[in-house]
Amino acid sequence: MKTVVLPVNPRYPQAKAIAAAARALQQGGLVAFPTETVYGLGASALDEDAIRRLYQAKERPASNPLIVHVADLEQLEGLVSELPESALLLARAFWPGPLTLVLQRHPALPDVIAPARATVALRLPAHPVARALIRASARPLVAPSANRFARPSATHAAHVLADLDGRIDLLLDGGPTRIGLESTVLDLYSEPPLLLRPGAITLEQLRAQLPDLQPGGALLDLDEDDALPESPGQHRRHYSPQAELLLFDGEAQAVLSAMRAAAREHLAAGGRVGLLDALEGFAGCEQVSPGADPRAMGRGLFAALRELDERGVDVILARLQVPEGLGAAINDRLLRAADGRIIRV
Ligand code: TXA
Ligand code: MG
Repeated sequence: MKTVVLPVNPRYPQAKAIAAAARALQQGGLVAFPTETVYGLGASALDEDAIRRLYQAKERPASNPLIVHVADLEQLEGLVSELPESALLLARAFWPGPLTLVLQRHPALPDVIAPARATVALRLPAHPVARALIRASARPLVAPSANRFARPSATHAAHVLADLDGRIDLLLDGGPTRIGLESTVLDLYSEPPLLLRPGAITLEQLRAQLPDLQPGGALLDLDEDDALPESPGQHRRHYSPQAELLLFDGEAQAVLSAMRAAAREHLAAGGRVGLLDALEGFAGCEQVSPGADPRAMGRGLFAALRELDERGVDVILARLQVPEGLGAAINDRLLRAADGRIIRV
């Protein structure tokens, strides 16, 4: 299959490009498009065959549930069987935006969206291209991140092509995505509500609306895994670069010394070392900094991991962030990429 790439203005998407993409979706096609978080790979949420092809294109195991994207609250009709007060409260506060709510699913929903689950995950994205596309296709869209199995999520059109060229019908190229980390996922079906995946809408922001929210489920993000984990903590590896990620945590000076020592050791053994940072004293290392402040870091994290992989490094050295606000989401992605291992100094 040939993948058609259509450039699109991210603020004022051209009607012609949106119409072509909407037509492809209505005909059962797969369309990648930008959202404010990462690129999504869209298919009609009402078309089981298209959803099966989507799982194949991503090489994603079919037991893994998908987020359904809507353009307005009216579209939730037929997707959820109940809309609790807490969902309305959060929708009013954070939609459109980078928040996904897990709610009780409607019995009419195709089972492939969330196999063997009583729930469905829902998101109303803020990106003008995403909203225009959902509107024009006149149906809710499932849209996992537009990356291939076990690859970092795509934050540039070039990442989508690197993973999915020839496997999808169309790509709307709206430039780099603004946030760069996937949406916050909040389970409102469980009692008390659980934060399943930290993101740009932070635990602190959510607690202001929902004081009993628990941060517990974060490590059970199942995106790229083939089965439900037998116990918490398993199947963590996820946003994986090909190189091994060494993650350091501790007092700033001690962390720097430990990172320099690790770099020296790997270089001496003939290894190629990458640094996910811009720091003095790492001669001979490939340095790619995703950005200095948390926002820039969130936006650039996945691109930097892909870039280091392309440069052929064997190990990547990185520091954990202060675990507040967006730092918690960045640490979550770093921890997954490092398979949960941290070097504490
Ligand atoms: O920002 C995002 O959320 C992006 C953009 C494209 O919207 N989408 C995205 O989708 O990250 P995906 O499929 O890559 O990640 C969705 C996550 C997975 O970890 C999945 O296990 C979880 O949400 N999820 C989906 N449905 C669920 C459900 N019913 N219950 C619990 N977790 C669910
Ligand atoms: Mg994903």
